Amino acid sequence: MIEVKDIEKSFDGVKVLKGVSATFETGKTNLIIGQSGSGKTVMMKSLVGLVRPEKGQILYDGRDLLSMNRDEVQHLRTEIGMLFQGSALFDSETVLGNVEFPLMMYTKMSWAERRERARFCLERVGLKGADDKYPSEISGGMQKRVAIARAIALNPKYLFCDEPNSGLDPKTSILIDELLSDITHEYQITTVINTHDMNSVLGIGENIIFINKGHREWVGNKDLIYQTTNEALSHFVFATDLFQKVKEYVISNEHPVK
Ligand SMILES: Nc1ncnc2c1ncn2[C@@H]1O[C@H](COP(=O)(O)OP(=O)(O)OP(=O)(O)O)[C@@H](O)[C@H]1O
Ligand SMILES: [Mg+2]
Repeated sequence: MIEVKDIEKSFDGVKVLKGVSATFETGKTNLIIGQSGSGKTVMMKSLVGLVRPEKGQILYDGRDLLSMNRDEVQHLRTEIGMLFQGSALFDSETVLGNVEFPLMMYTKMSWAERRERARFCLERVGLKGADDKYPSEISGGMQKRVAIARAIALNPKYLFCDEPNSGLDPKTSILIDELLSDITHEYQITTVINTHDMNSVLGIGENIIFINKGHREWVGNKDLIYQTTNEALSHFVFATDLFQKVKEYVISNEHPVK
């Protein structure tokens, strides 16, 4: 579990996070949602230590990130998997080489052990037989799978994904969401996903944190979101006719879509 308490972050005197508190639960897909520019990426970068908030606490199962020394942060990094916008694979490395990279950086595994672990992770994300291909030779959806395999190579306790569906078609997006959700449950990972994809919100939103203009305005799950009375959230989620119709359907049937 990660607990965020009252974090504040400014850039050039402008406050982006204005005292945000949230809890990200173990073994669940925790979604941070909000409009473009609302502070989702700054929030995620703060969580992983790439940005340092001026105020607040970030507790990783009780361990406060902001008061850790360098060694403690290094150790925490080995427990974290990351998937940032785009898949950020190394173009000059093969698929297998990409997944082996964190194992080479952070473990003392032998060559054979690294291979075995990398192959296992690639198989887990449904990518068998692509080991020797280069990122430029595979599709965007496959690249995402490689990035997920790389992110889980070290068996992380915490997994962070910033817009994992960006650039993917709706069907591939759903497959990636399902994969992230399955992995989260199977390995009991505390997974945090930034998204503004409504399919993701309504599909895998087990714990949803809505950020609006630097404030956390709503917390709930994909079933509760239909009943929200928060105007900004309602406007954000049900902005399109399609989602408005889904909402009307769900409310008129008085049972949430599972
Ligand atoms: N390094 C930085 N320096 C200055 N301003 C920044 C920096 N990083 C982010 N910001 C500002 O912080 C605000 C929030 O940005 P952020 O990237 O967190 O938004 P977001 O919710 O992730 O948006 P999107 O959905 O478009 O990815 C924006 O106004 C942005 O310009
Ligand atoms: Mg962002």
